[in-house]
Amino acid sequence: MKKRVGILTSGGDCPGLNATIRGAAKALYQRFGSDVEIIGIQNGYSGLIHGDWREMQQHEFSGILTRGGTILGTKRTPFKMMRVIEDDKIDKVAEMKKTYKNAKLDCLLCLGGNGTHKTANLLSEEGLNIIGLPKTIDNDIYGTDVTFGFHTAVDIATEVLDRIHTTATSHRRCMVVELMGNKAGWLTLYAGIAGGADIILLPELPYNIDNVVEAVLRRAEEGKYFSIVAMAEGCFDIKEAAMKKKERAAKRAENGERTATNRVAMQIEKATGFETRVCVPGHMQRGGSPSPYDRVLATQFGTHAAKLVEADHYGVAVAMKNNIVTENPLKDVAGKTKLVPETCDMLTVARRMGISLG
Ligand code: F6P
Repeated sequence: MKKRVGILTSGGDCPGLNATIRGAAKALYQRFGSDVEIIGIQNGYSGLIHGDWREMQQHEFSGILTRGGTILGTKRTPFKMMRVIEDDKIDKVAEMKKTYKNAKLDCLLCLGGNGTHKTANLLSEEGLNIIGLPKTIDNDIYGTDVTFGFHTAVDIATEVLDRIHTTATSHRRCMVVELMGNKAGWLTLYAGIAGGADIILLPELPYNIDNVVEAVLRRAEEGKYFSIVAMAEGCFDIKEAAMKKKERAAKRAENGERTATNRVAMQIEKATGFETRVCVPGHMQRGGSPSPYDRVLATQFGTHAAKLVEADHYGVAVAMKNNIVTENPLKDVAGKTKLVPETCDMLTVARRMGISLG
């Protein structure tokens, strides 16, 4: 019997999406031969809503292992709006179900992060056969030790910190590097350790600026006249931590601040006398070719999804647990975020190293 397998990529892109698509497609062709049709949905759930899909050819999955971004295109279609009828009067859930039916899909692979998994679970609850695959540079998907895209971003961010180090040393400056991660600090924590940051600030641990200043001054007393601060974009200080989210956002808007990074740099400069500079690598952390680690992980995840299709095992999200590729029920993953816990080994490593966590 023919299998028609849909694939979409949703949310922010990251390296490894194409490698995962390729892993799933190649393994499906291996298992089903000409009995499988792969249907590419364009631009994530938006394509599913608007019926933007096409049958793909086997050769389209070759030559994409190393390619960054996603050959299917992606879009952020917020989960909270999925059941809301907007001005266009479109019933998004009904349309997605209609497209699934029109494309005669047997199942749908949804590659994405937390938002993507929430909608994947919604579709699963609506009776569609769904498999989620965990992508994000933030590494914050519940139930998996790692997501594809994360390690490539760690590599990129580490290179930024390495390069910042040499110029910081030459100029005896304090460099504040803002890394991606709004809620979760995994990327900053790992890159911070790999790149030898002296101060690591995470959204999970509101910082006290006095501690940051003290760390810079202590280093100077030890004869180290430069410092590197790696801070996640979602960081806030202890005063902001005591505020409600809305109040915090209003205060930031009043001060023209998107993140706390520039403020931290200015506060350090004022309190220590060290010249300070800010570096924001931004979307570079999400661009380009996946690292070998992520190519392997993406291939593991993609081929596992193909195995699940063969077993007609749906309503699950692929995951890595203790080095074993497995899957979790979608309903257990949806709506949860894997933040850096206070008990995280890597925080202990940082503390043992004398790295200030603010
Ligand atoms: O979720 C991945 C991520 O890169 C976050 O680290 C960052 O906050 C966000 O996406 C940026 O999103 P956008 O693509 O909308 O700029």
